[in-house]
This record gives sequence, C-alpha cells and structure tokens, in this order.
Amino acid sequence: MPNPKLSQPSPRQRFVAALRGESQSAPPGWMMRQAGRYLPEYMSASAGRPFMERVRDSELSAELTLQPIRRFGMDAAVVFSDILVPPAAMGIDVQFIESKGPVLSPPVRDAAAVRALRPFDPARATDFLAETLRRVRQSLGDERALIGFCGAPFTTASYLIEGASSKSFERTKSMLYGQPALFDELQARLVDALGPYLAMQVAAGADALQIFDSWGGALDRETYARAVLPHLTRLVAGARNEGVPVIVYANGGDHLLEVLMDSGCDAVSLDWRTAPADARARSAGRVALQGNLDPTVLFAGPDATRAAVTTLLDRFRGQPGYVFNVGSGLLPGTPVESVAAAFETLLARR
Ligand code: CP3
Repeated sequence: MPNPKLSQPSPRQRFVAALRGESQSAPPGWMMRQAGRYLPEYMSASAGRPFMERVRDSELSAELTLQPIRRFGMDAAVVFSDILVPPAAMGIDVQFIESKGPVLSPPVRDAAAVRALRPFDPARATDFLAETLRRVRQSLGDERALIGFCGAPFTTASYLIEGASSKSFERTKSMLYGQPALFDELQARLVDALGPYLAMQVAAGADALQIFDSWGGALDRETYARAVLPHLTRLVAGARNEGVPVIVYANGGDHLLEVLMDSGCDAVSLDWRTAPADARARSAGRVALQGNLDPTVLFAGPDATRAAVTTLLDRFRGQPGYVFNVGSGLLPGTPVESVAAAFETLLARR
C-alpha cells in the first residue's frame, strides 16, 4: 500500500504551487516580518548590532531568517534584509535611528540628484544578500520555500525623496504632481536597479519574490494606475522572466486591488482591511491571493488568534491559489504564543 503521507507535497511545493494558482488540499503559509523584534532569540542574536550591520552579516542574517521557521514551522522563509538596502547600494547613506526610523541622506529632490543615483552591480554591492540566500537555501534544502524581496518603485522613491518615513508624503507628491517627468525618471532608474537585484536573489536561491509597496496606499487609484503601475509592471515582468512567481503587496491598498492585478503579478498579498469575499469576487481567479489576518489580532492572545485564523481559512476555502499570511507586517511586542497558535491552526489542516 502506498503511504499517503509520502505522496504529500513538500511545504516548498505547496507554496510555489499555490502562488501559481493551483488548488491545495491545505493552504501553505508564512507571515510578513516573521523574523523580527517580537522573537526573544532575535533580540539576543542581534543585540548591540546596528540594523544595517545585521543585514550585511550573512551568517547572522541567515540565522535570523531561520529562527521563526525553527520555532513555528512556516512553509516559507523570507530573507532577512530591508527595502532600504538598494538605496544604500545606490550610494545613499541609510541610517536607522531608534526614535526616528530610517534616515536617508542626501535626499533626492531634483534632477541632478535623480541623475546622480548610481546603478549598482548586485553581485558586488549586495553580495552579502546573495550569501545569506545561499546559506538559507542550504539549510532549508528542498523542504521549505525561500522568499526574496524588494521595495516597490513608488515606496523606494518616496524614501529617497522624503529622506525618512512620512505621514502624508508632501515632497513625494509635489514631485509626482509638479514634475511628473522627473518622478517617472526616478522610478525608471529604480526599476533598472531593482530588476538585476531581484534576478540576483533568484540566482542565489529564492523560490518566489515579493514586491512591497509599503506606502502605495497613500495614492488614489487613478494616480496609482497612471503614475506608478507602468513602472511596477516593468519590474514584475522582469522578475517573472527569472522563472519564479511574483507577489505584489500594497499596505493600505484595498482600493488598489484591481490595479495591482494589472501589474501582471502571480499573486496579490491583501491588506488586512480587505474582506476575503470582496477579494475573491474582485480577483475572479486572475491571480492567487495571500493574506490577510489583522496582525493586531495576535495581541488578543492564542485563543482569539486560533478563532480568527479558523474564520479566515474558512473564508478562503476553495480559493485556487491561496497562501495564508498577515495583512500587514508582524509588530514588535506580538505575543510569541499567538504566532504559535496561528501556525498550529494552519498546520492542523494537513
Ligand atoms: O517580511 C519581511 O521581513 C519583509 C521585509 C521588510 C522589512 N522591512 C524587513 C525588516 C519590509 C517590506 C520592510 C519595510 C520597511 N523597512 C519599512 C516600511 C514599512 C513596512 O513595514 O513596510 C520601513 C520604515 C523600514 C525601515 C526599517 N526596517 C526600520 C525603521 C527598522 C527597525 C530598525 C531596527 O533597528 O530594528 C527595520 C528593521 C527590519 N526590517 C526588520 C525586518 C525583518 C527587523 C526587525 C523588526 O522590525 O521586527
């Protein structure tokens, strides 16, 4: 008699197949920001090391990438890095300041600054990331999936222009609406740089790529479609040419779902505000869906988390191409027991 357990797909196969829109007997899952400050082992392994130094230390980054997998058994690992690594590789000084968040200098606010952005050779300028991916791939073997990523052209442009996080993106929007040709040129240069950067990640072992538009939700739908989508589409097409599925995520992007699907991506990662039934109706099978548990539910503890995950999985039942995730990154202070409860609930369906 064949052993049915032996013919089960590996977590890696389950994950990649789901992103390609195939039905799974049980959904795969991971969580955005699953490696991070809520984990005590993250805090002890990275104590006293400035953030960018942790990213550049491949041995440490590989360890930080694997920590949540060991503890919770997610189907996919997301490489420990940051969306601000490419700006740093382009010659911008990037500092993480405890109370302020990231500070980029000099900010990019005129044509001369846009044209001074250096394209970079990812194999040289970001060799540490390739090395981290190779190390993680080696540890995961064929069993689990590995995700590479970058920031979307709009989000990366907004960090370069603002020089920091922003609430209302006055400077970014003044360039977008006041100097649209320059804003186009900036995004085009970023796509020129991010394309090879994503290709490098695939060559080093990534099974899938996610493009994070952390601030995409700050734009209305028409502006996003007109000013941002063409650049996102070019980045997605280049990444898909590397032979892996591509996921697009816009935080606060419920109103952008249709536009994000138009980028040609394989999957859209849903913001937590989107109702699953809406997402299923609006996507109508055009893309796979990932998401979208409200990450603050986890603060209510393991029982509330189990209930919320069960409800969410029921809402996505029968969706061809579904990957469980949170609908925004895990927050520092998230109870570890709640993350454990979420994955117990998910894995109990296998
Ligand atoms: O799932 C993932 O890990 C996705 C990758 C990702 C990271 N950062 C990894 C990361 C993404 C998409 C980001 C985005 C990002 N990075 C933003 C935009 C907002 C958002 O969440 O999308 C911002 C403002 C940053 C800059 C940044 N990164 C700051 C200010 C910090 C904290 C500095 C510190 O010293 O810890 C980070 C750290 C960071 N980026 C971590 C990870 C996994 C480490 C720990 C954590 O934040 O829990």
